[in-house]
Amino acid sequence: MTLAIIGGTGLTQINGLTITGQQSLDTPFGSPSADYVFGEMNGKQLVFLARHGNPHRIPPHKINYRANIWGSKQLGVTDIIAVAAVGGIGALMAPGHIAIPDQIIDYSYGREHTFFADDLEHVTHIDFTEPYSPPLRKRIIKAAHNSGIPITEAGTYGCTQGPRLETVAEIKRMAQDGCDLVGMTGMPEAALARELGLNYANISVVANWGAGIVEGEITMADIEKNLEVGMDKAIELLKAVTLL
Ligand code: HPA
Repeated sequence: MTLAIIGGTGLTQINGLTITGQQSLDTPFGSPSADYVFGEMNGKQLVFLARHGNPHRIPPHKINYRANIWGSKQLGVTDIIAVAAVGGIGALMAPGHIAIPDQIIDYSYGREHTFFADDLEHVTHIDFTEPYSPPLRKRIIKAAHNSGIPITEAGTYGCTQGPRLETVAEIKRMAQDGCDLVGMTGMPEAALARELGLNYANISVVANWGAGIVEGEITMADIEKNLEVGMDKAIELLKAVTLL
């Protein structure tokens, strides 16, 4: 098993990862967001990729998701844990909280969202009933229990197009649809991983309440402050995952 971590906003590099190498890659779909960084955590090898580039410069709708996932597969990665900053919609999803979603609703559009687009020998429809790998989710949840990190063990992640945040009405609609979390990068990343047969799960770190859930505007300063706390917890959780 080779594990890759794709880090989102607030996780451009991982403290506690002993870096052993770095590789830039080209893929048939273009360049991944950054060099792949090889490292060791608790004596286990892993690969790290900064989803928005390093430094953080690629907005969610401009990320080359296909290159990122294809490059991971090229390196022999079998499992991906995606870390993502999200807005909280469900009552428990307060800033700083961590959730391991089990479902997705995709509201994004206009993204290159499949490897099965051109030169097809036959039309392929992947099964996406469970969009996140159940065994990999279980491993993360067990790691959280082992390390005493409070998490919510399931939830629906709604992926918006961004880069703007949502309106109050949009968040209300998402709540009615059953979304617990709102982010901008969950798709097509999860589906592309499934298309290549990679096990993929998500650690969502809540950066703010979704628009209109509490009064006032959402500021980048608040998001950054909450992510500092939340991402430290996410790193502790990743360390616990490598022990399993
Ligand atoms: N909406 C969408 N994506 C996000 C948010 C949000 O409120 N916070 C962090 N990522």
